[in-house]
Amino acid sequence: MKNKIRFGVIGAGLMGREFATNAARWHHLKTPGLWPEITAVCDPVPAAAAWFTDNVPSCTQTFTNHRELLASDIDAVYCAVPHHLHAEIYADVIRAGKHLMAEKPFGIDLPACDSILAAMQERPDVFVRCSSEFPYYPPVQELLRRLANEEFGEVFEIRAAFNHCSDLDPNKPINWKRRIATNGEYGCMGDLGLHVCHVPFRLGIRPKNVRALLSKIVRERPDGHGGMAPCETWDNATLACETEAGFPMLLETKRISPGDTNSWSLAIYGTRQSAEFSTRRPKTLRTLPYTSGDRQAWREEELGQDSAYPVITGHIFESGFSDSILQMWASFMDELAGNVPPFGCARPEEALLSHRLFTAALRSHANVSVETV
Ligand SMILES: NC(=O)c1ccc[n+]([C@@H]2O[C@H](COP(=O)([O-])OP(=O)(O)OC[C@H]3O[C@@H](n4cnc5c(N)ncnc54)[C@H](O)[C@@H]3O)[C@@H](O)[C@H]2O)c1
Repeated sequence: MKNKIRFGVIGAGLMGREFATNAARWHHLKTPGLWPEITAVCDPVPAAAAWFTDNVPSCTQTFTNHRELLASDIDAVYCAVPHHLHAEIYADVIRAGKHLMAEKPFGIDLPACDSILAAMQERPDVFVRCSSEFPYYPPVQELLRRLANEEFGEVFEIRAAFNHCSDLDPNKPINWKRRIATNGEYGCMGDLGLHVCHVPFRLGIRPKNVRALLSKIVRERPDGHGGMAPCETWDNATLACETEAGFPMLLETKRISPGDTNSWSLAIYGTRQSAEFSTRRPKTLRTLPYTSGDRQAWREEELGQDSAYPVITGHIFESGFSDSILQMWASFMDELAGNVPPFGCARPEEALLSHRLFTAALRSHANVSVETV
């Protein structure tokens, strides 16, 4: 007998559908544990909600107002809506006593994030996490295992990047992610930033201060009505941080990084081992183990489905974006069930720290200064 958690999905766009298809293949996991069952969807756009009723047999209720969905018979919510709606909807979900998988940046700005955390204080019984799937690629899990085994010696630098390139096309129409009112002043940092912060923050690597370089490259785009609209948000951000441990942390989030399509990467350099991973080569873990006197040589290991949660896919086959989403959701459900996951989804306090970092980064760029986080 399946132990089911009834989910409502608020925001039936790109990410809402990604959750739906992964919930539909939950038996892909060898030990599924709690099963997510989507029973309700909320989206003001009828075609978006209709995709759910057409494709998800268990989804029998549709709403255009999230408060109506929250009054229905559900246990948990996945909310994937534009950033200006996070604070109100996340707080409503939490106050309604529904467990929440939120989306980044977890509030459009620092005050919005604070207000969500205030709602959480009122309902400590509600389980809240934020989506961040890239650490679930098997090579990253292996890297983290080696780090936990203290194979790296003294870590002296960490780099993380998340880069896109489709905005290089000046004819790409404007969307909500290019507008401050809907995406937030952080621009690319709000959109991509928690993805680069999740692993360092979970490892206890915290930024003490930051010098940020932000850039706007394409300044206007077709508005879809024959005219042009200004692009208000930052396209690219490079953050040079001094960590509390004293070593450098370099974080890069770019919407215009020529040639990159959703390229997430992580590099950790240590005195006894260094490691690098990029979704450009999703099954490859590059490492450089080192002892004094060794010749230094990078080695590459091909990892297949060596995932945190075992799956039915054959061991040699490579893992991809949708697989990392399934793994992230497996971790969410595992932790919701009261277990300690191999690697947990991003926590609200980690999202809060990312807001402090991005807010300091805005000041740093404006003042050409090093800002305390
Ligand atoms: N984890 C990831 O890899 C990842 C990737 C892309 C986006 N995101 C995040 O997911 C969230 C949504 O992004 P997206 O790309 O899916 O956007 P999207 O534009 O594809 O979908 C958003 C949906 O929200 C709906 N919506 C708008 N107002 C609403 C309301 N009041 N109530 C309910 N629904 C409403 C829209 O109609 C739309 O269908 C954002 O927070 C974004 O940062 C995460």
